[in-house]
Amino acid sequence: MGVAVITGANRGLGAEWVAQLLEEGWSVYAGYRSDVGRLNSLACEKLSIHQLDVQSNDSVKAFADAAPSQIDLLVNNAGVADGRWRNLSEIDDEWALEVMDINALGPVRVVQALYGKMTHDQLTKVAMTSSLMASIDDCEMGRSYAYRASKTALNMFTVAMKKEAIEDNISFVILHPGWVKTSMGGDRAPVEMPESVEGMRAVVEGLTLNDSGKFIQYDGVDLPW
Ligand SMILES: NC(=O)c1ccc[n+]([C@@H]2O[C@H](COP(=O)([O-])OP(=O)(O)OC[C@H]3O[C@@H](n4cnc5c(N)ncnc54)[C@H](OP(=O)(O)O)[C@@H]3O)[C@@H](O)[C@H]2O)c1
Repeated sequence: MGVAVITGANRGLGAEWVAQLLEEGWSVYAGYRSDVGRLNSLACEKLSIHQLDVQSNDSVKAFADAAPSQIDLLVNNAGVADGRWRNLSEIDDEWALEVMDINALGPVRVVQALYGKMTHDQLTKVAMTSSLMASIDDCEMGRSYAYRASKTALNMFTVAMKKEAIEDNISFVILHPGWVKTSMGGDRAPVEMPESVEGMRAVVEGLTLNDSGKFIQYDGVDLPW
């Protein structure tokens, strides 16, 4: 096991990633925006926590500077919803830009800042947490405008970045965690956090350089773009 970096690690799927990776023996460098939350109860020698707001270049730079010198896995997990099922007339451009900034550009900032620490002889894996709601083919119900657009943009950033990164032995996977019971997913979600993260870990485990840029659900199913 090596060193894993997780963003948005204080609650929800991010905290579950931390718990499962620690259990497996990884050293984990975890980012929280303002409240350490569940990270408190996971405290151990192998867990290092640091403030990180993916919207702020200064915060991302400080986070990356303090990170371990060699990183083997980056899970870009931090994300926000947009006030689901809003009508066209309700789209708020300021909030839409904020959602785009956090969900699409945030992970790119983190990759840029950590890139030098991910470039080494061993394969480094980067998991980008997208959503089935990013899929243009699957967009039957519409709505959730900014959230959908932000995750579609994240998918394209990732596919575009993979071209350069393959040369540096870095492989990306674009993950849909399923509809999961978290504060974002809500109580009606059919998938529990442990099941989602176990599935995503298995996908990441099998990732090679040749697979870089695939869009995959937590249970291993390939998704339509
Ligand atoms: N749950 C689902 O059904 C589902 C489905 C598809 C995709 N996803 C994706 O899975 C990821 C995790 O979702 P979740 O369900 O675990 O959501 P969640 O429980 O709402 O957790 C979101 C996490 O992201 C962090 N975050 C938000 N903005 C941030 C920022 N600017 N900088 C740093 N951290 C920030 C939050 O920190 P704070 O505590 O500070 O707010 C929190 O730790 C997201 O990318 C989401 O889009 C979830």
